[in-house]
Amino acid sequence: MTVIEIESLTKSYQANRAVHGLSLRVEQGEIFGIAGPNGAGKTTVVECASGLRRPDGGTVRVLGLDPRTQRRELLQRIGAQLQEAALPDALRVGEALRMYAALYDRPADWRVLLDDWGLADKKRASFGSLSGGWKQRLFIALALVGNPEVVFLDELTTGLDPIARRTTWGLIRELRDRGVTVVLVTHFMDEAEALCDRIAIVDHGRVIAEDTPAALIAKQHSDSLEDAFFALTGRTLS
Ligand SMILES: Nc1ncnc2c1ncn2[C@@H]1O[C@H](COP(=O)(O)OP(=O)(O)OP(=O)(O)O)[C@@H](O)[C@H]1O
Ligand SMILES: [Mg+2]
Repeated sequence: MTVIEIESLTKSYQANRAVHGLSLRVEQGEIFGIAGPNGAGKTTVVECASGLRRPDGGTVRVLGLDPRTQRRELLQRIGAQLQEAALPDALRVGEALRMYAALYDRPADWRVLLDDWGLADKKRASFGSLSGGWKQRLFIALALVGNPEVVFLDELTTGLDPIARRTTWGLIRELRDRGVTVVLVTHFMDEAEALCDRIAIVDHGRVIAEDTPAALIAKQHSDSLEDAFFALTGRTLS
């Protein structure tokens, strides 16, 4: 079953064409990666799909819903961890989770999420006092508190220490095994290779390749996904 269907999506910021003519499909229960250079349009795509930004053109369907016109219904069924999110500094970790849980019709048990993400000891800590990695963990937990069917994770493991990163990979796989569809924007090619069932490489607002990590590597006659990424995007190291 197709869970996300994006067709010819366009979005500009004034004269800057961030996304133009981007199409992709994500199937139910897969971990779908989106990779690409800085400024390629990845975050814009995720924001359009999660109803946070209005596309200029094209069609977007998530769980059969149009984020433009069925946003309220959609927000009950998806979760998003955004690249640049913030909460009031004084808000405590436990309070944030409880508050977010109250927004959903069928929330997860936020105390279980505290444990899953190693946040139990930080329950009373204020958002402002958390290090970058702990903030990141909180945002992941917040993305899951509504028991989403689809979860968008934009630079999920940026700022996490190596242990937290591997723990996170395990939890993402668990989510997938429970039937949750995961869209993962990442700059880490080892992460994409290890975790993603399929990957779209986005450059200049378009998908330039979409396949399994193994097929992307094979088609570029590369040794690794990182090499394939360089070959596909025409980037070289000077
Ligand atoms: N709110 C905004 N206002 C104006 N321009 C924006 C805005 N958000 C993004 N852009 C521009 O749109 C283009 C795509 O940005 P986007 O954030 O979608 O890229 P990205 O692939 O997520 O990049 P990164 O890897 O750096 O996170 C860039 O040229 C960016 O400067
Ligand atoms: Mg981004």
